[in-house]
Amino acid sequence: MKALYFDYAATTPVDPRVAEVMTACLTLDGNFGNPASRSHRYGWQAEQAVETGRRQLADLLGADPREIVWTSGATESNNLALKGCIEALREADPERPLHIITSAIEHKAILDPCAWLSAHYQVDVTYLQPGSDGLIQPQQVAEALRDDTVLVSLMVVNNELGTVTDIAAVAALLNDHPACLHVDAAQAVGKMPLDVNALGVDLLSVSAHKFYGPKGIGALYVRREPQLKLAAQIHGGGHERGMRSGTLATHQIAGLGEAARIAAAEMDAESERIRALRDRLWLGLQGIDGVQLNGHAQQRSANHLNVSFAAVDGEILLASLMKVAVSSGSACNSATVAPSYVLKAIGLSDELAHAGLRFSLGRFTTEEDVDAAVAEVTRVVTTLRG
Ligand SMILES: Cc1ncc(COP(=O)(O)O)c(C=O)c1O
Repeated sequence: MKALYFDYAATTPVDPRVAEVMTACLTLDGNFGNPASRSHRYGWQAEQAVETGRRQLADLLGADPREIVWTSGATESNNLALKGCIEALREADPERPLHIITSAIEHKAILDPCAWLSAHYQVDVTYLQPGSDGLIQPQQVAEALRDDTVLVSLMVVNNELGTVTDIAAVAALLNDHPACLHVDAAQAVGKMPLDVNALGVDLLSVSAHKFYGPKGIGALYVRREPQLKLAAQIHGGGHERGMRSGTLATHQIAGLGEAARIAAAEMDAESERIRALRDRLWLGLQGIDGVQLNGHAQQRSANHLNVSFAAVDGEILLASLMKVAVSSGSACNSATVAPSYVLKAIGLSDELAHAGLRFSLGRFTTEEDVDAAVAEVTRVVTTLRG
């Protein structure tokens, strides 16, 4: 029996149209060449596929294709943005005080590089705390901003709660300040309109597997005007304008590009459909006593629903929900099961955080899936309380 899939925020299946484009870039009769091979047609054709993908992603983001740097995913993009920015500044001036503003509810792919930069480059990091609604307010950035602030890094959509940060308002605050603005848009790209110029961001991280592309490929948008200097984190053949070396993965890039093309064409209708399903799910779950919504009720993405159930043990709840694939409010480390730091940061007790469930819906979710999930969660919670 296949479980109902409600974990699209963890990863999405590859769209069959994407798989088809990727397959055409693998075998001898396809476009398998090395895009860096300049001396023959195989290389030129592969390069063409890479540049098509670059343009497709740039179009989705309102960017110039020359502002797209391919990476292995949003984790690498975040590392390149944060470490690359700080290392370039350190190289230019070893004595300069450096300050970063981020938030306590960023993905680990931001929090860990920040901790690393504190330890290795004595960077001072301010972690903004969210309100109980999960939102980081632009005013908090204004209050934390200092003369030595060089980078502000905030996510567009929180991966656990789905809450949306008002990035354009944060960017407006930085108009008269030299700090760079980086956004981790892993959960937002392809799901909501994002235009790098309208938003006013300098760096933006993308992950293909969150929007029906393959795993193992992502990108960092790097503004060209004014030009940003990033220190490379992977050295080699000087690919991607020296920012990220390594043979480009044609099939992955072509797949990401096709996923971006589809998103641009279908995003509006798709997000309306998914929002309606998400609301149907929430309506159904409200039939269960002691259920609460985590995160702001309106300022959130169409595809997330994070809820907690009072008076149930979170671990047992998850173990009993075998027919519904969701994420839990617990993070399993090697030895311990810790409550989610995001749910803790918005003020939930350990019990409610453990009993948190993140449902995330997507392109292939149906009304029948939603109704079956409501019935199953209702049955399991009622039984556990029984
Ligand atoms: C907000 C956010 N940032 C970064 C990542 C990491 O992305 P990737 O899997 O492409 O490294 C994720 C994935 O869970 C995410 O949700």
